[in-house]
Amino acid sequence: MVMRMAYMIYIPWLLVAQFLLLVPLTTSKVPAIIVFGDSSVDAGNNNAIPTLLKSNFKPYGRNFPGGRATGRFCNGRVPPDFISEAYGLKPLIPAYLDPAYTIADFATGVCFASAGTGYDNATSAVLNVIPMWKELEYYKDYQNKLRAYLGNEKANEILSESIYLMSLGTNDFLENYYIFPTRQSQFTIKQYQDFLVGLSGNFIRELYALGARKLSLTGVPPMGCLPLERLTNIMGHHGCNEEYNNVALEFNGKLKAMARRLNKELRGLTIVLADAYQIVDQMIRRPSLYGFEVAGVACCSTGTFEMSYLCSDDSPLTCTDANKFVFWDAFHPTEKTNRIVVDHLIHGLQQTFR
Ligand SMILES: *[C@@H]1O[C@H](CO)[C@@H](O)[C@H](O)[C@H]1NC(C)=O
Repeated sequence: MVMRMAYMIYIPWLLVAQFLLLVPLTTSKVPAIIVFGDSSVDAGNNNAIPTLLKSNFKPYGRNFPGGRATGRFCNGRVPPDFISEAYGLKPLIPAYLDPAYTIADFATGVCFASAGTGYDNATSAVLNVIPMWKELEYYKDYQNKLRAYLGNEKANEILSESIYLMSLGTNDFLENYYIFPTRQSQFTIKQYQDFLVGLSGNFIRELYALGARKLSLTGVPPMGCLPLERLTNIMGHHGCNEEYNNVALEFNGKLKAMARRLNKELRGLTIVLADAYQIVDQMIRRPSLYGFEVAGVACCSTGTFEMSYLCSDDSPLTCTDANKFVFWDAFHPTEKTNRIVVDHLIHGLQQTFR
């Protein structure tokens, strides 16, 4: 009798325990994070190509695990790393061109991004970095390797269930349109925005045709507040260049409209616009709310113009605590800023892509 009662009581608890265990094991269906874009998300692909735009030397990476300068344009990790971790995947997404990794590593997350690139072929040509069409070629190469490694069925499942991140556009404006006369003679700034949004849409269509179904599209940040842009904003007394910020807002609005159209048009595709503009703008305008002390200049060296090789020496001016700074170098945020951006966006992403 005692045995029997114990048995009867025990069974439901076993089921409950099993149920509680199974739920978290089956909710996340995201097998990998696959990344396209520019330095905002590059994990070190530029190390492997002949460009001057690199960051695989000190003080880059000084707060990265092991203090390694991986080629991320940051003192630590970049947003895709945090997103991957939040999905229960690995805490670092490796660069596809890094010979230290194999297809076994890339099967759970891979980065094709290249610092300095843009939607426009003419942008990637400025610093001889990887154009978007070539990021896509590398992705096709990855698909072939993944299929050879896991078989078609498993590989295709990974390719369709993965989250694809796209983050770029800033360089098209700041390293191309506003610097060189060619695009300015061909397009007004509004026409150029439309041109870029068209290229973004084309890229998404190609990704979709190759099997992508879950896409997070990031627009551009308040790019008029990047320290390098403040430096050249002499008329504005080195405040934010509000013209550039307005272009950024307008561009993000157009990206959003394009994403809405494609969500209707391409069956089975879901695009989330992961717009970081507002949160980065908040950090710049109210840094103390986030524990920052400095938002107008960067940590590295004088903090006004140095990035890549110009941020390479042991400048005595380089800050000791990057967590007090919104920007790490004159063009890129600190790891702390990246973490806050992801903390802010991850909820929306996880609600859509489980
Ligand atoms: C960019 O260059 C590639 C390779 O040459 C070409 O296939 C593509 O059409 C170009 N894109 C644009 C918009 O010109």
